[in-house]
Amino acid sequence: MVIIGAGRIGTALSAINGAALVRRGERIPDGAGPIIVCTRNNDLAGVVQATPGHRRGDLVFVQNGMLSTWLASRGLSESTQALLYFAVSSVGAQPVDGGRSVVTGPHAAVLCELLAAGGLACRAVSRSAFRGEMVEKFLWNCVFGLLCQRHDAAVGAVVSAHHDEVTALTAELLGVCDRALGGVPLSIAPLVQRLCDYSSSIADYRGAVKEWPWRNGWLIEQERSPLHTEWLAALSLL
Ligand SMILES: NC(=O)c1ccc[n+]([C@@H]2O[C@H](COP(=O)([O-])OP(=O)(O)OC[C@H]3O[C@@H](n4cnc5c(N)ncnc54)[C@H](OP(=O)(O)O)[C@@H]3O)[C@@H](O)[C@H]2O)c1
Repeated sequence: MVIIGAGRIGTALSAINGAALVRRGERIPDGAGPIIVCTRNNDLAGVVQATPGHRRGDLVFVQNGMLSTWLASRGLSESTQALLYFAVSSVGAQPVDGGRSVVTGPHAAVLCELLAAGGLACRAVSRSAFRGEMVEKFLWNCVFGLLCQRHDAAVGAVVSAHHDEVTALTAELLGVCDRALGGVPLSIAPLVQRLCDYSSSIADYRGAVKEWPWRNGWLIEQERSPLHTEWLAALSLL
């Protein structure tokens, strides 16, 4: 096992079992087993390029946001992908587990074993179930990021004062994901309920439109859907 990126997540994972950490500018050692990519999204292209062709199927992606199109364009749709529901606040800090991490793909079992050894929960799921989980996390970021900025409010206030907008925007953007990804196993009413419950549990958190190509920008690239386009434009974000 190799871990790329000695930041918060990479350092925390390497501390569990002593796996080799590859820092920026270092060569990825040859061998077998998973190559866990713990860089930020915008550094992914360089990492894939630096990975020998015959090892690219061993890459494990743990980044938040919509990676599907990017992975597909590089022939990496079948690679291992994880959604990490634990937070590491600084390099060397103890991970705080949210208990909902999931992983899919050829190295799913190895990642589950690694996290379990570190006392972190993780479930291996099917590719389709993963897509549902990924889209849910993605929509939470995109919907609450935009509505927090639109109303200059924290996520709890958005739920209590603008529930109708949460429902309308989530429904619109779920439709965009569904068409772009060829089906997403999520139903709108329970989805909105879960997104609002989560927001209410961290009511003071203030979202923002961030990581444009991997979040709201990806949606705009798929479709200029009406509410999303209008509300981004009103904030001069489009
Ligand atoms: N932190 C969390 O709690 C958390 C939770 C869930 C998911 N995630 C996801 O995990 C990913 C990593 O997050 P993080 O918080 O660990 O980020 P981070 O602290 O910024 O660490 C990223 C590390 O990757 C290194 N890096 C960049 N390009 C590289 C390359 N080509 N080769 C080797 N190393 C390279 C960076 O080095 P430089 O310092 O030289 O740039 C940095 O040390 C993100 O996509 C994030 O969405 C994070």
